[in-house]
Amino acid sequence: MTEMLKVSDVSVAYGRMTAVRNVSLSIDNGSISVIVGPNGAGKSTILRAIAGGIKPSKGHIEFDGQTIVGRRPEDLAASGISLVPEGRHVFPTLTVRENLLVASHVVRDRAGSLNDMERLLQLFPRLRERFSQTAGKLSGGEQQMLVIARALMTRPRLLLVDEPSLGLAPKIVDEVYELLLELRRERGLTLLINEQTSKRVLKFAETVYVLRDGSIRLKGSAQQLRLGTALSDAYFGSVSHHEAWTEEVDS
Ligand SMILES: Nc1ncnc2c1ncn2[C@@H]1O[C@H](COP(=O)(O)OP(=O)(O)OP(=O)(O)O)[C@@H](O)[C@H]1O
Ligand SMILES: [Mg+2]
Repeated sequence: MTEMLKVSDVSVAYGRMTAVRNVSLSIDNGSISVIVGPNGAGKSTILRAIAGGIKPSKGHIEFDGQTIVGRRPEDLAASGISLVPEGRHVFPTLTVRENLLVASHVVRDRAGSLNDMERLLQLFPRLRERFSQTAGKLSGGEQQMLVIARALMTRPRLLLVDEPSLGLAPKIVDEVYELLLELRRERGLTLLINEQTSKRVLKFAETVYVLRDGSIRLKGSAQQLRLGTALSDAYFGSVSHHEAWTEEVDS
């Protein structure tokens, strides 16, 4: 597989506080990678840095072999990088349809966008049912589907998804992930996903990065990490939580 995204030795600071330190990631075309890490580890900061929302204080980021540090989010979206931020921010007073079309200005092709929307609705039948309702009335799971669909309206090749399972019931989390897997299968989409807990993500991801206190503590295949104590050690910084972790992974 060819490398699509290369993050090399990136640090990001908010004022004097360094939130991410010397992080390197290598994301192959068509792969699914997950960054797991506790609250405040720096997961969102890394995705923001890749999507152009914040400029690293140090390091390089390359997309398709081109350096992208310093480029603006709109520009990166037009090049194929789209971020689904944490928190499911829909426009509550706009309809589902309007929420989707808001994103289409990046594409500048009205007819093409309407066509994209129609194809997306085939993948998201729940959104078709809700098409003319205001987004504020949707359930949490439906809103998560909507923000993912909205991000797809810019025709990304790399989709960055920040904590898609946060606050959703387990069954809905599985639905969201099934959808993400389908997007990879059908469109060859490359996925980089953040999650705070390990729950379920190890089932879906190929490569897992464990981030703690701004640094990558461990990288491995999900399969490898499901076994042994390396993952819980890296995540918690000690072996004492291992039992809690395996319980979570197996549930
Ligand atoms: N806009 C900001 N200004 C100042 N500090 C920030 C800002 N955003 C994040 N931080 C700090 O940077 C560190 C990393 O935050 P970040 O949001 O990237 O972590 P996270 O892993 O996404 O956490 P969570 O799981 O809670 O979403 C934290 O200490 C956080 O308080
Ligand atoms: Mg976050």
